[in-house]
Amino acid sequence: SDRYSLLILPGDGIGPEVMGEVVKVIDWFQVNRGMTFDVTHDLVGGAAYDVHGVPLADATMAKAQAVDAVLLGAVGGPKYDVLDFSVKPERGLLRLRKEMDLFANLRPAQCFDALADFSSLKREVVAGLDILIVRELTSGVYFGEPRGIHSDDNNPDNEGGRVGINTQRYTSGEIRRVARSAFELARARGNKVCSMEKANVMESGILWREEVQWVHDNEYPDVALSHMYADNGAMQLVRAPRQFDVIVTDNLFGDLLSDAAAMLTGSLGMLPSASLGAVMANGRPKALYEPVHGSAPDIAGQGKANPIACILSFAMALRYSFGEGAAADALEAAVERVLADGLRTADLMGPDGGTPISTAQMGDAIVAALEA
Ligand code: NAD
Ligand code: IPM
Ligand code: MN
Repeated sequence: SDRYSLLILPGDGIGPEVMGEVVKVIDWFQVNRGMTFDVTHDLVGGAAYDVHGVPLADATMAKAQAVDAVLLGAVGGPKYDVLDFSVKPERGLLRLRKEMDLFANLRPAQCFDALADFSSLKREVVAGLDILIVRELTSGVYFGEPRGIHSDDNNPDNEGGRVGINTQRYTSGEIRRVARSAFELARARGNKVCSMEKANVMESGILWREEVQWVHDNEYPDVALSHMYADNGAMQLVRAPRQFDVIVTDNLFGDLLSDAAAMLTGSLGMLPSASLGAVMANGRPKALYEPVHGSAPDIAGQGKANPIACILSFAMALRYSFGEGAAADALEAAVERVLADGLRTADLMGPDGGTPISTAQMGDAIVAALEA
């Protein structure tokens, strides 16, 4: 009865490995929960470059625009480091985000009790942690003009004679729309938003603070709002992360803060994300779901990768694209049960070792836990 279209873009490195486990989970929901997924697979990143000479073919872009949700593994790798900037694997992902206008990147960081002793921080600091970073994803220094590498020849004081330029640029509208996402999400959780910028040194940060405050005062006065300089925010995130509920921040700060937040949960291999845009005529948001981690070239091809970040990204798809909240809860509970049973991929091994299970064994265990 319920039919959902999905575009799966496994990408590079461990991307295809972790996505293989998501496919098992999708199949389980089709067989056992009466959902029908119309799944299309395609190429992104280096894998697309190898075939098409570009990291995202126009036809793939068109498919991404047409489906209910896109699932992406990871892009990039040393093989592609030598490529021209315009065709690097990462450009494929950035094109998807920009052209689908996925301005709100939801990066939850939850510390499962079974992993609290495994975090690089003390159990007392991370136990019970449940925060949500809302990262602006389609603007800021990632996309601002002017940008580029230019010669600076008529500047005799510049040794090397070159200049590299990127521009941090935000419009009030871009800030207001991501702020609204953060406030809406906060209302459904702890009702608290902390906005992070550097209004002490950047005009774009001053605008950010003013516009977030404006949205709060005019539309969400019931939500508790605080502001913090992002450098202090980074420190607070490792000092006392449970003080936060929802953090809203710009594209670059959000990138850094979410990788830091990963360590609160035990591993970068645990962190899912949802990249959401405007709600379409069918009531669903434009959406791409991707783990926070990259292609992990150091472990690619060895069956060692933790598929949980990618599987939990699919849980976010169930919740945010398909309105299948109960199924999302069930999948998250299955992950929690497997961890409680002591099953661990190599990234979740403590200093005194233990026997890690493979990517495929972790996927199978999660599917088995769904059955139970
Ligand atoms: P990375 O996230 O790929 O890896 C960082 C470290 O975390 C590595 O030691 C890796 O082994 C480990 N790790 C990451 N995911 C893991 C998982 N699921 N299970 C176990 N261990 C995991 O970051 P990097 O090494 O800085 O970047 C490698 C490539 O990935 C680069 O080309 C980069 O641009 C790209 N990248 C892509 C994305 C994405 O596709 N969304 C995100 C980040 C980096
Ligand atoms: C991420 C990645 C990407 C980013 C890269 C691969 C473009 O680090 O999704 O966090 O910087 O946004
Ligand atoms: Mn990143």
